Amino acid sequence: MRRLLVLLSAVAMFATAQGVMASAAGALKMVDIDSSEQARQRGAEIVVGTCMMCHSLKYIKFADLKEIGMKEEQITALLEDQDIDDRMLSLTPIEIRKESYGKVPPDLSLMAVARQKGPQHIYTLLTDYYYKSAEQEETDNHLFPGIKMPDVLAYADAESDDERAEIEAQAHDVASFLVWASDPSAESRRTIGKYVILYLIILTTLLYLLKRRVWSKLH
Ligand code: HEC
Repeated sequence: MRRLLVLLSAVAMFATAQGVMASAAGALKMVDIDSSEQARQRGAEIVVGTCMMCHSLKYIKFADLKEIGMKEEQITALLEDQDIDDRMLSLTPIEIRKESYGKVPPDLSLMAVARQKGPQHIYTLLTDYYYKSAEQEETDNHLFPGIKMPDVLAYADAESDDERAEIEAQAHDVASFLVWASDPSAESRRTIGKYVILYLIILTTLLYLLKRRVWSKLH
């Protein structure tokens, strides 16, 4: 019993420490990320059209986008030189990306699980750019001060709440897409899981009925 209490309090302490660490890392905007196919498809278009100038998603193929409900024509419309069966790799040569930013932009396939609260991290990062001075020459980022990545969705340039809301919606859709990309088979796993549980319920019922029959003969 005492050991159990020690263990439980250790777990509680660990959980609190994690919470404190997360909040010290900079205020994440704790938005809910929608997992609808529409949000994911809009996110996919932004990621291919904008983010892939610099980033790759090496674990995802263009053809995999069918799993978020995209039609073959929708996918081929996103392609430049690539084939639908190719991996989603940036077409900008790696040396150029490295030279421009001093480092190779990280692969985005697993970004939603690589950071704590990954989806919120991505959302916040994209909507945390601001101009360092009134001259509006250089931007920085509240979540990631000194980041080498430019303000790609032009959040710092937004002049009205409407414009900001539009960019926030884009950041949301990008996060939603990257959540899918980090675990593309989650959906089919959930479907299979439902069937497995249904099967177990039926099996349990049948075994129960069988047991009753066998025992009734014994009485
Ligand atoms: C012009 C090039 C460029 C584009 C376009 C670009 N990025 Fe980046 N990105 C970078 C670079 C460079 C880094 C590395 C930044 C650093 O470590 O300072 C980076 C880093 C990141 C990171 C990791 C931040 C962290 O916490 O370590 C995320 C997430 C990210 N980008 C998401 C995106 C998304 C989503 C898009 C599209 C909406 C995008 N990027 C478009 C260049 C780019």
